[in-house]
Amino acid sequence: MSADTTPTEAPSGRGARGRRLRRILRGTAIIAGGALVIAIATAWIASQRAPVYSAMAMGVADIGTGTTVVGGDHAHDPTAPPRGGTVSVSELIADPMRPADVHVELVARAETVELAGGDRVAAFTLNGSTPGPEIRAAQGQLVEVVLRNADVPGGVTLHWHGVDVPSAMDGVAGVTQDAVQAGESFTYRFVAEDAGTYWYHSHQLSHSQVLGGLFGALVIEPAAGLSTGDATAVLHTYPGTSRTLNGVSGDVAHEAAPGSTVRVRVINTDNAATAAWVSGGDLRVAAVDGTDVHAPTPVGDRKLLVTAGGRIDVEVAVPATGAVRVQAPGVSLVIGPAGADAPQRPAPDAFLDLLAYGSPAPLAFDPDRPDRSFTYDIGRAPGFLDGMPGVWWTINGRMGDDVPMYMVREGDVVRMRISNSSGEAHPMHLHGHHLLVLARDGVPASGSPWWVDSLHVDHGESYDVAFVADNPGVWMDHCHNLPHASEGLVTHLAYEGVTTPFLLGRDSGNEPE
Ligand code: C2O
Ligand code: CU
Repeated sequence: MSADTTPTEAPSGRGARGRRLRRILRGTAIIAGGALVIAIATAWIASQRAPVYSAMAMGVADIGTGTTVVGGDHAHDPTAPPRGGTVSVSELIADPMRPADVHVELVARAETVELAGGDRVAAFTLNGSTPGPEIRAAQGQLVEVVLRNADVPGGVTLHWHGVDVPSAMDGVAGVTQDAVQAGESFTYRFVAEDAGTYWYHSHQLSHSQVLGGLFGALVIEPAAGLSTGDATAVLHTYPGTSRTLNGVSGDVAHEAAPGSTVRVRVINTDNAATAAWVSGGDLRVAAVDGTDVHAPTPVGDRKLLVTAGGRIDVEVAVPATGAVRVQAPGVSLVIGPAGADAPQRPAPDAFLDLLAYGSPAPLAFDPDRPDRSFTYDIGRAPGFLDGMPGVWWTINGRMGDDVPMYMVREGDVVRMRISNSSGEAHPMHLHGHHLLVLARDGVPASGSPWWVDSLHVDHGESYDVAFVADNPGVWMDHCHNLPHASEGLVTHLAYEGVTTPFLLGRDSGNEPE
C-alpha cells in the first residue's frame, strides 16, 4: 500500500531518515487502522444471525475433555459440528397412552391487575391471576396442563423450572416447541417423578413475561403424603412495585396450630438473589431446589440465600404462643393460629453455607470418574451480539453463536467447572437435569449432597458440579437473571443424535429469552 505521495528528497542525512521513518509509521498506522476496521466489520457481519436459524447451529460443539470413546466411532474433535440428529425433541414425550392424574387448564392474558395488596400493575395473568394457580401433584402422577393463549402478544409457553421433564415438554420457544400465539393452545404432559418445590413460567420473551407475572408454583408432594404442615411463599417483584409474597406486599398469614411443624416452600421468581430468614423460632433447611437435604440441623443466626429461580424449603416450628415468621426483605409469611403474630427482626449478618450443611449420604454415581469434563467460564467483553455493539456476556471467552454447545451421550457422567470473572453474580440454570455441587473455589462440599438446578455463582467464584446425562434432549443452560440471558448468557446442552425441528431468529416467532 503506497498511499504516500509526498515528494521526497535524496535519502541522505538525519532529516531524510526521520522522514522515511515517519512515512513508514504513517503507512503502518493506515494498514493497522484499515485492518482494525476490516476486523470490526467482519465481526459485526459475522455476529448477525440469519432471520431464522436452528439452536443446533448455535454454538460450537464442545465434546469435553476425558471423553470416553465408545465403540471407537466418536471423533475427538472439539470443532466438529453437532452430529446430525435422528431423534427429534418432539418425540421425547411422556407415555401418550397414559391417562392424566392431574389435569389443569391455564389461560394466559395480558391485562392490568390489582395485586392482593392493592397495587395495580400492567401484567400477564394465568386464569386471571398472578402468580398463576398453584399446581399440586403427588409424586408418580401424570400431570397434564393445557395452556391457552387468549391475547398475550408475541406468544407464550410454559417451562417447568426444576422438573426434569421429557425434552418436548420443556417449554422453550424455538428449541422444544413454537411459541403459543394468541388463540392457540399447547398441552404439556409429564410424570412428576421427584417430590419437591418447583415453579413454572413462560419461556417466550421470558425477560418481560416472567417479570410481568406469567408464572406460578408447582409442588410435587411425596407419594406417601405430607408429614408436616405445608405452605408456599412465592417471592416476586413486579415492575414498579415492592417485593410481593404470593402477590401481596407486607405480611401474609398462614394458619397453623401451636406446636406444629410447617414446611415453607420459598420460591424466588425474581432476577436477583434474595435473603430469607426466620423470626420467632429456629429453622431447618429441608430441601434445596426440590431435593431434600440429608440430616438438616437447626440453623442458628444465619440467613439463607435464595438465588434467582431457586427454591429453599424451610421447616419451622410454631411456638406454643404467638407465631413464627419467614421473612424476606419487605415481606413475611406469618405462621401460627389466627391472629397470632411474631415481631419482625432484621436479617442476620451471615449467610448459611450450604457447602457444609447437613451430612453426607451415598451417591448413585461416581463424580470422580467423569466421562466428560467441561468448562463454563463466564466473562464480559466488547463485541457484537446479532449485529448490536455492546459489552456482552461471554462463555469461555466467546459470545453469540460462537459459545460452546456442550455435547453429551446418554449415560455420561459429566463434570463442569462454572467460573465467573464477569463482574456480576449469575444464577446459572441447566434445564432437564440436577447438578451436584462438588466444590466451590476448590473447597470440597462436606455436608449433605447439595443438588441444584439454579446455582448462584458470584463474581470471582468457581464451582465444580457433576450430573448424569440421563434425559436425552436439547437443553438450555443459561443465566436466570433473565435480562442477562437476553444479553447472550445462554447456551445449550445437547445429546448426540437428538435434534430440534424448531427455529429461533427474528422471523421465527420464537424468542425464548
Ligand atoms: Cu426458569 Cu430457562 O428457565
Ligand atoms: Cu447473569
